[in-house]
Amino acid sequence: MAKTRVLVTRRIPEAGLEAIKSFADVELWSGEEPIPRNELCEKVSEVDGLYCLLTDTIDEALLSLAPRLRVVSTMAVGFDHIDIQACTKRKIPVGNTPGVLTETTADFAFALLMAAGRRIGEAAEFVKAGRWGAWDPALFVGQDVNGATAGIIGFGRIGQAVAKRAHGFGMRVLVNHSRPIPSELLAQANVEQVSFDRVIAESDFLSLHVPLTSETQQLIDKKVLNRMKRTAILINTSRGRVVDSKALYDALRNQNIAYAALDVTDPEPISVDDPLLTLPNCLVVPHIASASVATRRKMALMAAENLRAGLAGEDLPYCVNPEVFKK
Ligand code: NAP
Ligand code: GLV
Repeated sequence: MAKTRVLVTRRIPEAGLEAIKSFADVELWSGEEPIPRNELCEKVSEVDGLYCLLTDTIDEALLSLAPRLRVVSTMAVGFDHIDIQACTKRKIPVGNTPGVLTETTADFAFALLMAAGRRIGEAAEFVKAGRWGAWDPALFVGQDVNGATAGIIGFGRIGQAVAKRAHGFGMRVLVNHSRPIPSELLAQANVEQVSFDRVIAESDFLSLHVPLTSETQQLIDKKVLNRMKRTAILINTSRGRVVDSKALYDALRNQNIAYAALDVTDPEPISVDDPLLTLPNCLVVPHIASASVATRRKMALMAAENLRAGLAGEDLPYCVNPEVFKK
């Protein structure tokens, strides 16, 4: 029997690719850059399965070109790059990779938190620029992490994992969440659930862990930034569009907040001319929070398994729109 055909939109960890080759004929886009939209549109018309990345926009226009498509599997937990309603309407299940990247992403959010608090990025650049003179009591004086208040917006998998790390550093933890958190979980996690206004006003370090949705888009805007402490530090490992970049630039430049550390930006990649990159109090890294060898391998395999299940007509192990399986 002829194998099914799938499109893999970027080179992925070898284990994932090998797994896919065991059940399908693979068309692999192996360019250095994400697959261009015109190539994606052309290639998707001939495949039964699509294995994509968060850099690919999967929308109604694309789906309308894909009469054979039976499953979309993204190698990411965030699925804001996929029009889920349009997939559901076509009975196409969408898979993602929750859980396997939680700890790795939380490690990185905490690394950003510490780097920003203690100004590690700036200090490393200073040394490389040959500017290290005598020991100076005023050199790169930052803010203590221990004893500070961590605010977490979005108390899901990654938010909870960040809270654990914060406790390890003796922080008080406030969380803001979309709905009431069961009291057992609050007690076990040793966190206080507070209103959005309180988490904004009281946090020394504010870390964002919400998905990008119509409700969270520009959640952190000028008004919100103005209500944060002047000494506050913002950490974003969620999605760039959760923050209004222009308002963030103004807040950092005018020192309405002290610092920002961003793994994600709007747009991505950030332009080299972006004003945020001119600021000493803004640390930007290129969307690498889940980038450990072990985690990327697990993500690749999990997405491959979602793809396999979808092609076999089985329920996806991790499905964003399980309602497609209802009879
Ligand atoms: P998750 O378990 O779904 O957690 C997100 C939580 O945020 C959910 O519990 C959600 O509650 C809550 N939420 C939604 N809207 C909210 C709002 N307006 N205010 C407060 N809470 C809200 O997802 P996760 O695995 O932790 O991942 C979170 C996000 O991180 C992903 O969607 C992705 O965008 C991002 N991410 C980035 C990287 C990276 O490399 N930088 C890596 C992994 C993930 P409900 O369930 O009630 O909606
Ligand atoms: C990364 O940003 C992800 O959503 O997995």
